[in-house]
Amino acid sequence: MLKVEEHSPVEFSADLIGRFDEIIARYPGGKQKSALLPILHLVQAELGWLSTTAMDKVAAYLQIRPIEVYEVASFYTMYFLKPQGKFMLEVCRTGPCCLVGAEKILDHLETRLGVKEGEVTPDGLFSFRGVECLAACGYGPVLQIGPEYTFYENLTTESVDQLIEDLKKKS
Ligand code: FES
Repeated sequence: MLKVEEHSPVEFSADLIGRFDEIIARYPGGKQKSALLPILHLVQAELGWLSTTAMDKVAAYLQIRPIEVYEVASFYTMYFLKPQGKFMLEVCRTGPCCLVGAEKILDHLETRLGVKEGEVTPDGLFSFRGVECLAACGYGPVLQIGPEYTFYENLTTESVDQLIEDLKKKS
């Protein structure tokens, strides 16, 4: 993943632009704005988050106003408007998961990673945050990791530690 600061210049690779065009082609001519959400997902997967510069470039590519991109990107929580760790651990903190220990998992992540919710570990690998119901209520506590949104269920502090070690090895 590239390291992108708020105002770093952003270049989209030819491969990425090809994938934009594939998505745009699914819609009638002149309706390219309909491709905005999946294109933002692709950009975020490539850059790690959506800087203003990146969003402006998406707007230019889709021939829409930058505000049309900002309003979408700031509405949906799956888009990150500031840098995140390579792995964003999103822990469900809705009632049913809290009843089986979600808050303990969030506290453990803070201690284990040495950062607070929304911050990035010094090695750039991890961030975590609490999110609303992930629709796996019978398997709580649960967390997901994007961009594939892989689920990890029935979490314990030990399984979270193992997950962190496994992710470090993968990085
Ligand atoms: Fe946690 Fe639904 S309450 S997944």
